[in-house]
Amino acid sequence: MEKIYGVIGDPIAHSMSPDMHNDLFQFYNLHARYHAFHVKQEHLRDAIKGFKAIGLSGFNVTIPHKVAILEMLDEVEEVAANIGAVNTVVNENGKLVGYNTDGQGYITSLMTKIKKELKECQVLIIGAGGAARGIYISLAAAGVKTIDIVNRTAENADKIIASCRYKTSSSYYEISGNEYDLTKYDIIINTTSIGMHPNIDQTPIPIEQDLSGTVVSDIIYNPLETSFLKDAQRNGAIIDNGIGMFVYQGALAFEKWTGIFPDPARMERVVRTRLGGTT
Ligand code: ATR
Repeated sequence: MEKIYGVIGDPIAHSMSPDMHNDLFQFYNLHARYHAFHVKQEHLRDAIKGFKAIGLSGFNVTIPHKVAILEMLDEVEEVAANIGAVNTVVNENGKLVGYNTDGQGYITSLMTKIKKELKECQVLIIGAGGAARGIYISLAAAGVKTIDIVNRTAENADKIIASCRYKTSSSYYEISGNEYDLTKYDIIINTTSIGMHPNIDQTPIPIEQDLSGTVVSDIIYNPLETSFLKDAQRNGAIIDNGIGMFVYQGALAFEKWTGIFPDPARMERVVRTRLGGTT
């Protein structure tokens, strides 16, 4: 019987996961299909029950469900539980088990851009949702000593900082304030959805200072180059778009579902083709 996989989120129409995973299923000769499911917050619990009842083989989880889904699963793997966010679910003989491949995917992608040792980098994360938490805890686990957070809601940033079991030092800054100094960071990461299609003119914070040598990263991949990244590049930064993280989180999820670690270059080509870019 054909296996069914998918991604749940709201909004979800923009997702490129179906293209990426369906291409892989075909390429590796697997009898499986991957669908996008539009699930609103108030329907999440019912959707999970339904997936279990019909025997969905696995699915990805995106905005805004990555944190809320934890308590709806049968088991959550240790790292995902520490992060407090799940982006990949595997149906293991009828049990829904949650994993987090975002943080590891992000780090793998980031390593290709930075010139310093990751451990020696000072990092600023914008946003304090599930994606931010995954990246924060993965960076802390990798030994990064300074990870500051800029966010609208202090409480959400404080929760991430307090729940991290790895030793690191962090300050919180208000997103609309001017207390933070962008020039002190080696890596600046936008983890909010600000600037995502269709609100492509919005940016999470203004960039007006010289950021030569800084890696500025945006986990958004639609559009490929957000207004935030354009501002950063104009100010001398090395930019890192969301494709790398997206591709590696997908590769790690695909491996959990099938046992095959797929070719990341092939996955990136699919995403770029879908976005209308060069391959
Ligand atoms: P995910 O779990 O996928 O990371 P999320 O939990 O919705 O998504 O997190 C989104 C982050 O972007 C949050 O930190 C949110 O700020 P708050 O903690 O104040 O809610 C931030 N964010 C989203 N839209 C925003 C906006 N319009 N202005 C400022 N911050 C925003």
